[in-house]
Amino acid sequence: MSQTSTASNPSAATIVVTGDRTTGPLHLGHYVGSLQTRLSLQETHQPFILLADTQALADHQGDYRAVRQSVIDVALDYLAVGIDPQKSTILIQSMVPELAELSFYLMNLVSIARLERNPTVKSELKAKGQDRDVAAGFLTYPVSQAADITALRGSLIPVGADQLPMIEQTNEIVRRFNRMVGENVLNECSALLSNTSRLPGIDGKTKMSRAAGNHISLAASADDIEQAVNKMYTDANHLTIGSPGQIEGNVVFSFLDAFDAEPAHVNELKAQYQHGGLADRVIKARLNEQLQALIGPIRERRAQLAKDPDAILSLLLCGSAKARQTAALTLHKVKTAMGMYYF
Ligand code: TRP
Repeated sequence: MSQTSTASNPSAATIVVTGDRTTGPLHLGHYVGSLQTRLSLQETHQPFILLADTQALADHQGDYRAVRQSVIDVALDYLAVGIDPQKSTILIQSMVPELAELSFYLMNLVSIARLERNPTVKSELKAKGQDRDVAAGFLTYPVSQAADITALRGSLIPVGADQLPMIEQTNEIVRRFNRMVGENVLNECSALLSNTSRLPGIDGKTKMSRAAGNHISLAASADDIEQAVNKMYTDANHLTIGSPGQIEGNVVFSFLDAFDAEPAHVNELKAQYQHGGLADRVIKARLNEQLQALIGPIRERRAQLAKDPDAILSLLLCGSAKARQTAALTLHKVKTAMGMYYF
């Protein structure tokens, strides 16, 4: 993991805030990109993990129908991989209304031009085929993210590289706010990037995403996993078993690098493959075995937990209530600094 700032090691006092837009169940890309980091951080910190349903609404142009189920799905994924509600605070963004109120104030500290320049927002708009037709809620989601982070007093934000512009924008907003009120009410934060380069999709083309349909879900059945592995590209020029094969751009090896429990064995396979004499079938069988071993127990735990949705909801209620205490304190400080208590 690497931090973008020069700050020293995160101390126990460091507040970790992270989250996911709830647009559907999570997949292996999330596992290597963020879930693994959270599993280790929850041992030393007490991370806040947001189920960002308000942000997901912005993604769906306000259509609420898909969002509710996704909140439950993502919560199930968290718990199934081992996020422990005793160690991590899982909250639903919309259940902490202070976040929405703070967003509204922060909205005045960002220009439309600045929002339009955010490179991540820009590329998301392009991918959606929208430009000026976009919902205002989407264009302003970086501000809502700044509110999430600052309200919960986050100082260390584990995110993927595509979220760096959000951190930068958050810090701009923080500086502007503090300058405006003449005191340091809000805190700046730094990003914690995971080391793993982004996991490709099973087609090897873009990063793994549900939208691109090139993902392997954390709830995938044994058959789904096997089929996905069989579909993966290897080296298009590796026509006979005896001929030397290429590792670079070989999706199966990218996945073995990310998931094989024995890296030394992967190195042996790589050497053999490059030399010639190792069939694609063999590396695929190895990958299938590794993924079955990883996902099988997650799938089973998930199915078990899904039997009791009330238990999931009550745990999210607890997490949201806990987060609300922190958020309400921050909002109080913000409104006090702005002279907004009138009575
Ligand atoms: N933007 C993040 C995503 O697309 C989700 C998110 C919302 C988030 N609020 C956050 C991440 C606060 C880190 C901190 O998945």
